Amino acid sequence: MELKIGLLPGDGIGPEVIREAVKVVDVIANKFSHDIIWKEGLVGAAAIDAIGDPYPNETHEICLDSDAILFGAVGDPKYDNDPTAKVRPEEGLLRMRKKLGLYANIRPTYTFDSLLEKSPIKKSIIKGTDLVFVRELTGGIYFGKKGRNKTNDYAFDTCEYNIDEITRLAKIGFELALKRSKKLCCIDKANVLETSRLWRQTVQSLEKDYPNVEVSYEFVDAVAMRLIHSPSYYDVMITSNLFGDILTDEASVISGSMGLMPSASVGSETSIYEPIHGSFPQAKDKNIANPLATILSASMMFERSFNLQNESNLIRDLVNESIANNIVTQDLSGDSKSYTTAEVGDWIVNKIKSL
Ligand code: IPM
Ligand code: MN
Repeated sequence: MELKIGLLPGDGIGPEVIREAVKVVDVIANKFSHDIIWKEGLVGAAAIDAIGDPYPNETHEICLDSDAILFGAVGDPKYDNDPTAKVRPEEGLLRMRKKLGLYANIRPTYTFDSLLEKSPIKKSIIKGTDLVFVRELTGGIYFGKKGRNKTNDYAFDTCEYNIDEITRLAKIGFELALKRSKKLCCIDKANVLETSRLWRQTVQSLEKDYPNVEVSYEFVDAVAMRLIHSPSYYDVMITSNLFGDILTDEASVISGSMGLMPSASVGSETSIYEPIHGSFPQAKDKNIANPLATILSASMMFERSFNLQNESNLIRDLVNESIANNIVTQDLSGDSKSYTTAEVGDWIVNKIKSL
């Protein structure tokens, strides 16, 4: 099969972790006789530095022309403490999501038996956790009306949703629930927010189309608590943009390291696969970043965008094996020897070659 993959390494540790995922994808392609056509583009601070725009047109064209995109991370500390910056790397990410119509962000959280000790939460609580967030990604308060008044002493952001935006997101959640344990939780703040009441009403009206899915409705504040004291209670969870942003960071703690969790942003045009850890500038160029979340994102890409289950499973199995054998970067190695970003990638590559 010919696979056209866009490559957007971005900032911070993005290029380093992407490099390892590319190595893995190339060797998988070789093993299963696929032809990969890579096309690389600039995004984030790297794109601002080069051409003054965090999501240049040329990058957008590359995305439109790709079957799937592997994305590293965006963000640079030089912009974080400057509220007057005219342009920021994150703007590139948000524009990319909007322009490509990437309305659903799928973020799984699961545990690895050999890492149960690594989580700050008790082993007995997190054991068996296997949940997926489906976060709305192109609406809500991120994209609603926002601004300041003339005297610059008042600011506002607005949360807005229409039925179509909620329906298409909820359908992804229902479909995913059907493939898993048939449990769906809609997370909102319907006791206070009008948009949440529209979410609840819309999801309720879809229930009849999915009679086999058991739907529950919970308030976001209660979920924030229950996610920590009984994470295995949940399976598929659907929620709005901002709630999903916050809860998925919270959930990532359960797996033991932020460096482990992949994600997919899916839409009508194409899909983007990226680690959820962000640009982690403190680790940039040190060859210490954990590449596994990006390698697992590549596994998700084979499954979701190319329907190549064997390729996807093989990558996932080898990530599990590398963790079980302690071939891990310093965020996971504890008292034992730690491996570099490149060594972890090489170990997986060599395993695939040897099969
Ligand atoms: C994420 C990130 C982004 C978001 C930032 C970088 C704009 O935190 O992908 O979760 O808030 O969506
Ligand atoms: Mn986030």
